[in-house]
Amino acid sequence: MKYYLAPMQSLTGFVFRHAYNKHFHNIDKYFTPFLADRRLNNKDKNEVLPKHNKGMHVIPQIMANDVEVFLEIVQQLEQYGYKEVNLNLGCPSGTVVPKKRGAGLLADLDMLDRFLEGIYDKSPLPISIKTRIGMKSPTEWEDIQTIYQKYPIKELIIHPRLQQDQYKNHPNLKVFEEALNSLTYPICYNGDLHSAEQLNHFTGQFPQVEMVMLGRGILKNPGLIGETKGKAPVTKEILLAFHNDVLEGYKAHIPGDINVLYKMKEWWCYLGESYKGSNSAKKLIKKIMKSKALTEYHALARQIIIEEKFQSR
Ligand SMILES: Cc1cc2nc3c(=O)[nH]c(=O)nc-3n(C[C@H](O)[C@H](O)[C@H](O)COP(=O)(O)O)c2cc1C
Repeated sequence: MKYYLAPMQSLTGFVFRHAYNKHFHNIDKYFTPFLADRRLNNKDKNEVLPKHNKGMHVIPQIMANDVEVFLEIVQQLEQYGYKEVNLNLGCPSGTVVPKKRGAGLLADLDMLDRFLEGIYDKSPLPISIKTRIGMKSPTEWEDIQTIYQKYPIKELIIHPRLQQDQYKNHPNLKVFEEALNSLTYPICYNGDLHSAEQLNHFTGQFPQVEMVMLGRGILKNPGLIGETKGKAPVTKEILLAFHNDVLEGYKAHIPGDINVLYKMKEWWCYLGESYKGSNSAKKLIKKIMKSKALTEYHALARQIIIEEKFQSR
């Protein structure tokens, strides 16, 4: 099985993946959160700079619906040495969908077809796609799939939810299976594999799937892949060292303690789920969320990691 780290805006950027790779080193491909500006801005450049991504196989993700914009971003990425890009056709957010970007492009299949024709015709780099299965109904998938079949998609990552699901309901495994049976591209599965049990259950159900992409599961339990391979859960020492590297990385690259604090709290929205076993842990998480200074935050995070029981299952 190959494991990919999911692109997650503001969570799995270069600081997080650098620290993750240092301590766990078990991801086959890292995907950047989406880049959308025609000219890469400073934040985007930091994300893709080779010196921030050493020793990792990183695929930059692009969100666009205009051929020229897409190609302009690809050209800049090519100059950094990238050999493949990924197209975002899955973002369900209310700010992008009405503009027919992300999953929103699945609402206009003529436009999707023209866009794919343009980029697959002219892109100097191979393009993989990360997609949802439709906007409002799983019956939309058949037409979407027919369009995908026309293009040389390097790899198709399927998050089998609808745009309107956002992150609610369950991934539609029936549609995923249909895609698996009818498409000849390498297919990667993504969605709701948040524990070793769920991952092992999935591989039992779909033994032919060779790639899975993991997002929230790794944020919640950085030792998830190890556990799936039968290794012991992540130790407090490794978790603390990993946490401290993420914190130091943000401090070095993000101006303003408040912004660093905000990023760390965002991660704790997921990591905190592994500390729900006791009242003392719950209280500490509340304190973390209310903390106003980095020193206060760091002491609380250290306390919870060292003193509380990490429950990955
Ligand atoms: C906060 C957040 C940010 C995300 N940002 C992106 C993104 O930039 N690009 C993308 O393709 N998917 C994005 N996703 C979707 C994830 O990559 C993934 O498809 C989703 O979380 C389901 O996988 P999981 O259950 O393993 O987390 C985001 C999801 C969340 C919750």
